[in-house]
Amino acid sequence: MQFADYVAAAAFLSYLSAVNAWSPTNSYTPGKVECDADVNLIRKADGLAPAEAEWLVKREANTKDALKSFLDRATAKFSDNSLVDSIFSSATPRVGFASCGGGYRAMFVDAGVVAAMDERTVGANENGLGGLLQGIAYISGSSGGSFFTTTVTYNNWTSVQDIINQMKDGDHSIWDLSQSPLNPGGSDTEYTNELFANITESIQLKNEAGFDVSLADAWGLSYGYYFFPSLPRGGYSYQWSDIQDADVFKNGEMPLLIELAKVEKAGETSVDLSSTSIEMSPFEFGSWEPSIKSFTDMKYLGTEVNNGVPTTPGECIAGFDNVNFLTSASTNVINTLYNSGSGMYTSMINSFKSKFLPNVTTVGHIDVNIAAPNPFKGTTNYESDSSIVDNDQLYLVDGGIDGQVIPFTPLMRKERDIDLVIATDTTADTDEVWPFGSALVATYERQFMEIGKTDAFPYVPDIETIQNLGINKNPTFFGCDSSNLTDLAYVPPLVVYLPNRAYSYDTNVSTAVLTYTREQRLGMIRNGFEIATRNNFTDDPDFLGCMGCAVMRRKQEQLDLPWPSECAQCFERYCWNGTISNSDTTSIVSSSSANATSTSTGISSASANSTSEGFSTIHFETSTTIPCDECEQPQPTVMTTTIEEDCSDSATQVATMIECEECEEAEAYRSGSYNHYTTRTSLTTTTEICEECEEAKATSVPSTYSNNGNNNNNEANDFSSGSSGESSNSEGTSNNSASNGSEKSGNSNGSNGSNASAGSNASNKITSSAATILQVTTSAPSSTGVSVVLNENNGASFSVSGMLTVVTILLAGLQFM
Ligand SMILES: *[C@@H]1O[C@H](CO)[C@@H](O)[C@H](O)[C@H]1NC(C)=O
Ligand SMILES: *[C@@H]1O[C@H](CO)[C@@H](O)[C@H](O)[C@H]1NC(C)=O
Ligand SMILES: *[C@@H]1O[C@H](CO)[C@@H](O)[C@H](O)[C@H]1NC(C)=O
Ligand SMILES: *[C@@H]1O[C@H](CO)[C@@H](O)[C@H](O)[C@H]1NC(C)=O
Ligand SMILES: *[C@@H]1O[C@H](CO)[C@@H](O)[C@H](O)[C@H]1NC(C)=O
Ligand SMILES: *[C@@H]1O[C@H](CO)[C@@H](O)[C@H](O)[C@H]1NC(C)=O
Ligand SMILES: *[C@@H]1O[C@H](CO)[C@@H](O)[C@H](O)[C@H]1NC(C)=O
Ligand SMILES: *[C@@H]1O[C@H](CO)[C@@H](O)[C@H](O)[C@H]1NC(C)=O
Ligand SMILES: *[C@@H]1O[C@H](CO)[C@@H](O)[C@H](O)[C@H]1NC(C)=O
Ligand SMILES: *[C@@H]1O[C@H](CO)[C@@H](O)[C@H](O)[C@H]1NC(C)=O
Ligand SMILES: *[C@@H]1O[C@H](CO)[C@@H](O)[C@H](O)[C@H]1NC(C)=O
Ligand SMILES: *[C@@H]1O[C@H](CO)[C@@H](O)[C@H](O)[C@H]1NC(C)=O
Repeated sequence: MQFADYVAAAAFLSYLSAVNAWSPTNSYTPGKVECDADVNLIRKADGLAPAEAEWLVKREANTKDALKSFLDRATAKFSDNSLVDSIFSSATPRVGFASCGGGYRAMFVDAGVVAAMDERTVGANENGLGGLLQGIAYISGSSGGSFFTTTVTYNNWTSVQDIINQMKDGDHSIWDLSQSPLNPGGSDTEYTNELFANITESIQLKNEAGFDVSLADAWGLSYGYYFFPSLPRGGYSYQWSDIQDADVFKNGEMPLLIELAKVEKAGETSVDLSSTSIEMSPFEFGSWEPSIKSFTDMKYLGTEVNNGVPTTPGECIAGFDNVNFLTSASTNVINTLYNSGSGMYTSMINSFKSKFLPNVTTVGHIDVNIAAPNPFKGTTNYESDSSIVDNDQLYLVDGGIDGQVIPFTPLMRKERDIDLVIATDTTADTDEVWPFGSALVATYERQFMEIGKTDAFPYVPDIETIQNLGINKNPTFFGCDSSNLTDLAYVPPLVVYLPNRAYSYDTNVSTAVLTYTREQRLGMIRNGFEIATRNNFTDDPDFLGCMGCAVMRRKQEQLDLPWPSECAQCFERYCWNGTISNSDTTSIVSSSSANATSTSTGISSASANSTSEGFSTIHFETSTTIPCDECEQPQPTVMTTTIEEDCSDSATQVATMIECEECEEAEAYRSGSYNHYTTRTSLTTTTEICEECEEAKATSVPSTYSNNGNNNNNEANDFSSGSSGESSNSEGTSNNSASNGSEKSGNSNGSNGSNASAGSNASNKITSSAATILQVTTSAPSSTGVSVVLNENNGASFSVSGMLTVVTILLAGLQFM
């Protein structure tokens, strides 16, 4: 450990003990503490936690000045930037940052993006968005994003710059990933053995104290060594709620962190978009969603309760909210591996089980984070299905595994009244581990499902459009005009979407890569910086100003203030304006018009993707929206349009029909309070005439992902098999699609069409997986270094090299366990 590191650690430690912020047992084991005899640990999810509201006042005293000076800088070149003063004379914009998942790839890219917004980063004020982070009120994390957010939050809100300054290989500094969690000591086998023995002991003692444990405890404890290397045993006695006592938090000098986990129901082995999401804030643990609709006091998680009342009056449990345990819950993909159907993963997991849980009495559920006793037991705030609150245990898994890899939902909550959400997208959507927006589509669609009925999210296009318009390559703003969002449950924040792409470094590293050298880490972080700044403003010198406009937009709308011409130009450049560009009517559901009540025809004359052969790809699409009460007498509309240029002799006919069933269904989702809700329903039949066009399309389709809007588990896909991706389809609105849709789009026999609606993501990945083999070098404990070949799409579909991977990992694992 470096001297500076040591001093900082010592200071942090003495501070932690001074404020008494530590597990009562001073270890991983939760322990009994006194609490008020009449305490009730549960509150109904009907508003912000009082503690959060109180904290927000303190935070906003700081964000106000920070945002004001950021905006003064960002708009300095505007012909008239009086908008800044006008806004701040009566309001302060509220900004959130969503830290996307995707393993270490995500962690580093998120770090670079945040560094670009942090005034503490060298160069961020000259080349970046420096100061914006100081104006952010909330950050959220899921999966690999939680690796990042946990690290900075629970290291006294350290800066990425500080982490970089201390970064070395092999010294166990923060994010020293020169060795993988499978072999943390590298050639120092003694260290590895001691570390694993310590983890095994921690889990054993927690279990002996009466708490159910699983492999997820080991997962979290081993990652702790990478995030809190200066704390004893990687922070094994560090509590989530401890941050409440840190000055930097108490004084509102850092944002409030909310991480997400998903609830896996008893008897199920996976989660999907309809599963419940849990929010974990410094204050609370719980869910807004109808299956729970309650929050419990974070500090006393683990207490046996009935409807929030401790079963032993005056006695609570503390220390269950361990930082490593809850980060594990937000990042736990073990269950996906375990249930992938791959015998190899199963045996690997069983070997871990005998290593880390040798004498543990719990049976079953070794793959999930077990929160037990269930804090929601006996609660009555849930709306329908009581299965979660009835169970004695609560099972938690990775927050992004349902397809919502970007943790938008906590920041979209109406109660938090956020104006702008800045989000990264490091999802591994393509074979080459780049995003194409499946996470956006997932959260968009979820709002129309029962589980998401109290959420709103701006309209986004389908994934094919996202690719055709290059939305997945450059920053894009969604929900730019509040007036176009009035048909959602409420007007959601503006979204600034920052997709992962390469500038100075290929940041498309597989989730399965668990080691990074210092050079690689720095390369990833630097590229993240460039993503957030459009390559340090070389791609667009006005981007700084445009981000300023995004910060001010909702307040400008609310206060009805004049919109600077520079902002208007920015919005023309960066806002998705409702344009659709795809060839696949099955994806129409999420494409939508920008205004859901109006009938809009999104004709992408962008048909204009001419190939070198001179063919035109015809994209044609109709989206019709009708109010539900008109459903009684649907009036099919038929439109005929002739298309252009190279295919001037071709015509595309589009028949739009209206399906009443869909309306009723949608209405049911919205129940009572939104009875004026309307949905877009359309069936499109396209008849192609031009031969050349068919040909052009037929060749372009295989390289394109057609999405039916339900791209579950993209994160899991690149870890394992994507087998759960097959569970996709037909939640909520995603079924509006044409049953006849496969006949369009130049697929004479519709094979691609059907592929598209049956989890093609997974199958496409499998077929082309040979191209995505990565070399990862880890070192075996004793003998020579072993080159572990990880296949991006391993899991159920092992190629030969995939076999090698698991065998090697197993061997390596067994050797030093
Ligand atoms: C935490 O960070 C703040 C602000 O950077 C600093 O003043 C303080 O000394 C740090 N506390 C500890 C215990 O390191
Ligand atoms: C962008 O700026 C950052 C911070 O100053 C720097 O580290 C990085 O090298 C720059 N990138 C380019 C392409 O200039
Ligand atoms: C293991 O635990 C012991 C006792 O708490 C501690 O002294 C040692 O540093 C720990 N080692 C690791 C690698 O966690
Ligand atoms: C598990 O039980 C065996 C046999 O009782 C004992 O030798 C071993 O130390 C135990 N392991 C742990 C981690 O408690
Ligand atoms: C990353 O992207 C580059 C360029 O798109 C590609 O050549 C490379 O194969 C990709 N890497 C992975 C791991 O897929
Ligand atoms: C046109 O299609 C080609 C091949 O599918 C693709 O590489 C290119 O990005 C597309 N261009 C546009 C503007 O969509
Ligand atoms: C949507 O369009 C309707 C009708 O033009 C309009 O009343 C409403 O304000 C618009 N908001 C949208 C949906 O543009
Ligand atoms: C909407 O955006 C597309 C490209 O994304 C552009 O071609 C079109 O002109 C824009 N339409 C309007 C009305 O701004
Ligand atoms: C909002 O609606 C107007 C009118 O329908 C349209 O011109 C505009 O492009 C829409 N804006 C966005 C961002 O969708
Ligand atoms: C989706 O369509 C299929 C086939 O028409 C139907 O069986 C299924 O019930 C539909 N699902 C939903 C949610 O509408
Ligand atoms: C599909 O469309 C064709 C002609 O457009 C029609 O004859 C056929 O009945 C449709 N099939 C279904 C399942 O709707
Ligand atoms: C469907 O397309 C495949 C691949 O192009 C072709 O081999 C097959 O013969 C076609 N089937 C029919 C019924 O046209």
